[in-house]
Amino acid sequence: MATTAKPTQKSTGSTAKSTATKTTAAKATATKTTTAAKSTSARGVVKAKSSAAEGLHELFVDSLKDIYWAEKALVKALPKMAKNATNENLIAGINNHTTETEEQIARLEQVFEIIGKKAVAKKCEAMDGLLKEGQDIMESTEPGAVRDAGIIAASQKIEHYEIATYGTLCAFAKTLGYDDAAEILHTTLEEEKQADITLTEAAYNTINFDAAEADDENEVA
Ligand SMILES: [Fe+2]
Ligand SMILES: [Fe+2]
Repeated sequence: MATTAKPTQKSTGSTAKSTATKTTAAKATATKTTTAAKSTSARGVVKAKSSAAEGLHELFVDSLKDIYWAEKALVKALPKMAKNATNENLIAGINNHTTETEEQIARLEQVFEIIGKKAVAKKCEAMDGLLKEGQDIMESTEPGAVRDAGIIAASQKIEHYEIATYGTLCAFAKTLGYDDAAEILHTTLEEEKQADITLTEAAYNTINFDAAEADDENEVA
Protein backbone atom coordinates (compact mmCIF):
# COMPACT_ATOMS: atom_id res chain seq x y z
CA MET A 1 0.00 0.00 0.00
CA ALA A 2 2.81 2.26 1.03
CA THR A 3 4.63 1.57 -2.19
CA THR A 4 1.61 2.35 -4.22
CA ALA A 5 0.80 5.35 -2.10
CA LYS A 6 4.23 6.90 -2.62
CA PRO A 7 4.22 7.00 -6.37
CA THR A 8 0.64 8.21 -6.23
CA GLN A 9 1.66 10.95 -3.81
CA LYS A 10 4.71 11.66 -5.94
CA SER A 11 2.66 11.65 -9.03
CA THR A 12 0.00 13.85 -7.42
CA GLY A 13 2.76 16.15 -6.26
CA SER A 14 4.29 16.41 -9.70
CA THR A 15 0.83 16.92 -11.28
CA ALA A 16 0.10 19.63 -8.76
CA LYS A 17 3.50 21.18 -9.48
CA SER A 18 3.01 20.99 -13.20
CA THR A 19 -0.52 22.42 -12.89
CA ALA A 20 0.86 25.25 -10.78
CA THR A 21 3.62 25.86 -13.31
CA LYS A 22 1.08 25.83 -16.13
CA THR A 23 -1.15 28.26 -14.26
CA THR A 24 1.78 30.59 -13.62
CA ALA A 25 2.79 30.34 -17.29
CA ALA A 26 -0.79 31.06 -18.36
CA LYS A 27 -0.90 34.06 -16.03
CA ALA A 28 2.38 35.33 -17.44
CA THR A 29 1.06 34.92 -20.98
CA ALA A 30 -2.14 36.74 -20.06
CA THR A 31 -0.12 39.55 -18.48
CA LYS A 32 2.10 39.71 -21.55
CA THR A 33 -0.93 39.82 -23.85
CA THR A 34 -2.58 42.57 -21.81
CA THR A 35 0.63 44.57 -21.71
CA ALA A 36 1.11 44.06 -25.45
CA ALA A 37 -2.47 45.10 -26.17
CA LYS A 38 -2.11 48.14 -23.94
CA SER A 39 1.17 49.24 -25.45
CA THR A 40 -0.15 48.66 -28.99
CA SER A 41 -3.13 50.86 -28.34
CA ALA A 42 -0.97 53.43 -26.57
CA ARG A 43 1.37 53.46 -29.56
CA GLY A 44 -1.33 53.56 -32.29
CA VAL A 45 -4.13 55.70 -30.88
CA VAL A 46 -3.70 59.43 -31.33
CA LYS A 47 -4.31 61.50 -28.23
CA ALA A 48 -6.95 64.14 -28.97
CA LYS A 49 -6.25 67.81 -28.27
CA SER A 50 -8.42 69.57 -25.73
CA SER A 51 -10.02 71.42 -28.68
CA ALA A 52 -10.94 68.17 -30.49
CA ALA A 53 -14.30 67.97 -32.30
CA GLU A 54 -16.90 66.07 -30.32
CA GLY A 55 -19.54 65.61 -33.00
CA LEU A 56 -19.99 65.67 -36.76
CA HIS A 57 -21.10 69.30 -36.65
CA GLU A 58 -17.82 70.40 -35.11
CA LEU A 59 -15.85 68.28 -37.57
CA PHE A 60 -17.84 69.87 -40.41
CA VAL A 61 -17.01 73.39 -39.16
CA ASP A 62 -13.32 72.47 -38.74
CA SER A 63 -13.20 71.05 -42.26
CA LEU A 64 -14.82 74.21 -43.64
CA LYS A 65 -12.17 76.35 -41.93
CA ASP A 66 -9.49 74.12 -43.41
CA ILE A 67 -10.70 74.37 -47.02
CA TYR A 68 -11.35 78.10 -46.55
CA TRP A 69 -7.64 78.52 -45.78
CA ALA A 70 -6.74 76.20 -48.68
CA GLU A 71 -8.78 78.17 -51.24
CA LYS A 72 -7.35 81.48 -50.01
CA ALA A 73 -3.80 80.14 -50.32
CA LEU A 74 -4.58 78.73 -53.75
CA VAL A 75 -6.03 81.95 -55.12
CA LYS A 76 -2.70 83.62 -54.33
CA ALA A 77 -0.64 80.79 -55.88
CA LEU A 78 -2.57 80.34 -59.14
CA PRO A 79 -1.46 83.62 -60.82
CA LYS A 80 2.16 82.57 -60.22
CA MET A 81 1.46 79.22 -61.90
CA ALA A 82 -0.13 81.03 -64.88
CA LYS A 83 2.93 83.29 -65.11
CA ASN A 84 5.19 80.24 -65.27
CA ALA A 85 3.12 78.38 -67.87
CA THR A 86 3.74 78.83 -71.60
CA ASN A 87 0.89 76.92 -73.26
CA GLU A 88 -2.02 79.26 -74.04
CA ASN A 89 -4.71 76.73 -73.16
CA LEU A 90 -3.06 76.02 -69.85
CA ILE A 91 -2.69 79.72 -69.03
CA ALA A 92 -6.36 80.34 -69.92
CA GLY A 93 -7.40 77.33 -67.82
CA ILE A 94 -5.45 78.53 -64.77
CA ASN A 95 -6.75 82.08 -65.14
CA ASN A 96 -10.31 80.81 -65.42
CA HIS A 97 -9.86 78.67 -62.34
CA THR A 98 -8.48 81.67 -60.42
CA THR A 99 -11.79 83.47 -61.02
CA GLU A 100 -13.68 80.33 -60.03
CA THR A 101 -11.60 80.02 -56.87
CA GLU A 102 -12.54 83.57 -55.86
CA GLU A 103 -16.19 82.56 -56.29
CA GLN A 104 -15.58 79.38 -54.29
CA ILE A 105 -14.23 81.47 -51.40
CA ALA A 106 -17.41 83.58 -51.50
CA ARG A 107 -19.49 80.36 -51.54
CA LEU A 108 -17.70 79.09 -48.45
CA GLU A 109 -18.53 82.37 -46.72
CA GLN A 110 -22.18 81.74 -47.65
CA VAL A 111 -21.96 78.26 -46.10
CA PHE A 112 -20.49 79.70 -42.89
CA GLU A 113 -23.41 82.14 -42.79
CA ILE A 114 -25.99 79.37 -43.30
CA ILE A 115 -24.64 77.36 -40.39
CA GLY A 116 -24.35 80.47 -38.22
CA LYS A 117 -20.57 80.42 -37.87
CA LYS A 118 -17.96 83.12 -38.49
CA ALA A 119 -15.82 82.50 -41.59
CA VAL A 120 -12.44 81.65 -40.13
CA ALA A 121 -9.45 80.17 -41.97
CA LYS A 122 -7.41 77.43 -40.30
CA LYS A 123 -4.12 76.39 -41.89
CA CYS A 124 -4.55 73.42 -44.21
CA GLU A 125 -1.33 71.41 -44.00
CA ALA A 126 -2.25 69.38 -47.09
CA MET A 127 -2.71 72.41 -49.35
CA ASP A 128 0.41 73.99 -47.90
CA GLY A 129 2.36 70.86 -48.87
CA LEU A 130 0.78 70.63 -52.33
CA LEU A 131 1.63 74.27 -53.07
CA LYS A 132 5.21 73.73 -51.89
CA GLU A 133 5.44 70.75 -54.22
CA GLY A 134 4.17 72.94 -57.10
CA GLN A 135 6.87 75.50 -56.31
CA ASP A 136 9.50 72.72 -56.24
CA ILE A 137 8.37 71.41 -59.63
CA MET A 138 8.65 74.89 -61.15
CA GLU A 139 12.10 75.36 -59.67
CA SER A 140 13.29 72.04 -61.04
CA THR A 141 12.12 72.60 -64.65
CA GLU A 142 13.04 75.04 -67.40
CA PRO A 143 10.16 77.22 -68.68
CA GLY A 144 8.40 75.54 -71.63
CA ALA A 145 6.55 72.29 -72.26
CA VAL A 146 8.30 70.38 -69.46
CA ARG A 147 7.48 72.99 -66.81
CA ASP A 148 3.92 73.16 -68.20
CA ALA A 149 3.62 69.38 -67.74
CA GLY A 150 4.93 69.81 -64.17
CA ILE A 151 2.42 72.60 -63.45
CA ILE A 152 -0.39 70.34 -64.69
CA ALA A 153 0.82 67.50 -62.49
CA ALA A 154 0.92 69.75 -59.41
CA SER A 155 -2.44 71.34 -60.24
CA GLN A 156 -4.16 67.99 -60.69
CA LYS A 157 -2.98 66.85 -57.27
CA ILE A 158 -4.54 70.04 -55.89
CA GLU A 159 -7.81 69.47 -57.78
CA HIS A 160 -8.04 65.88 -56.57
CA TYR A 161 -7.52 67.03 -53.00
CA GLU A 162 -10.29 69.59 -53.44
CA ILE A 163 -12.61 67.04 -55.06
CA ALA A 164 -12.14 64.71 -52.09
CA THR A 165 -12.67 67.56 -49.62
CA TYR A 166 -15.82 68.97 -51.22
CA GLY A 167 -17.25 65.46 -51.63
CA THR A 168 -16.83 64.91 -47.89
CA LEU A 169 -18.20 68.35 -47.02
CA CYS A 170 -21.31 67.69 -49.17
CA ALA A 171 -21.89 64.41 -47.35
CA PHE A 172 -21.44 66.04 -43.93
CA ALA A 173 -23.80 68.91 -44.84
CA LYS A 174 -26.49 66.47 -46.04
CA THR A 175 -26.18 64.29 -42.94
CA LEU A 176 -26.47 67.34 -40.70
CA GLY A 177 -29.57 68.55 -42.57
CA TYR A 178 -27.95 71.60 -44.19
CA ASP A 179 -29.44 70.99 -47.64
CA ASP A 180 -28.82 74.55 -48.88
CA ALA A 181 -25.19 74.39 -47.80
CA ALA A 182 -24.85 70.96 -49.44
CA GLU A 183 -26.11 72.40 -52.73
CA ILE A 184 -23.61 75.27 -52.60
CA LEU A 185 -20.76 72.87 -51.81
CA HIS A 186 -21.89 70.61 -54.63
CA THR A 187 -21.62 73.49 -57.14
CA THR A 188 -17.97 73.91 -56.13
CA LEU A 189 -17.40 70.15 -56.25
CA GLU A 190 -18.56 70.09 -59.89
CA GLU A 191 -16.33 73.06 -60.72
CA GLU A 192 -13.31 71.27 -59.25
CA LYS A 193 -14.10 68.15 -61.30
CA GLN A 194 -14.33 70.27 -64.46
CA ALA A 195 -11.02 71.99 -63.66
CA ASP A 196 -9.42 68.56 -63.39
CA ILE A 197 -10.86 67.52 -66.79
CA THR A 198 -9.59 70.76 -68.39
CA LEU A 199 -6.09 70.04 -67.06
CA THR A 200 -6.19 66.46 -68.35
CA GLU A 201 -7.23 67.70 -71.80
CA ALA A 202 -4.47 70.31 -71.84
CA ALA A 203 -1.96 67.60 -70.94
CA TYR A 204 -3.10 65.11 -73.56
CA ASN A 205 -3.73 67.56 -76.38
CA THR A 206 -0.31 69.13 -76.65
CA ILE A 207 1.73 69.68 -73.55
CA ASN A 208 2.83 66.15 -72.65
CA PHE A 209 3.71 65.42 -76.30
CA ASP A 210 5.77 68.61 -76.54
CA ALA A 211 7.47 67.74 -73.27
CA ALA A 212 8.27 64.24 -74.57
CA GLU A 213 9.68 65.73 -77.78
CA ALA A 214 11.88 68.05 -75.74
CA ASP A 215 13.11 64.91 -74.01
CA ASP A 216 13.89 63.23 -77.36
CA GLU A 217 15.77 66.30 -78.56
CA ASN A 218 17.89 66.25 -75.42
CA GLU A 219 18.65 62.57 -75.92
CA VAL A 220 19.70 63.18 -79.56
CA ALA A 221 21.87 66.11 -78.48
FE1 LIG B 1 -11.17 75.31 -55.18
FE1 LIG C 1 -9.70 73.89 -57.64
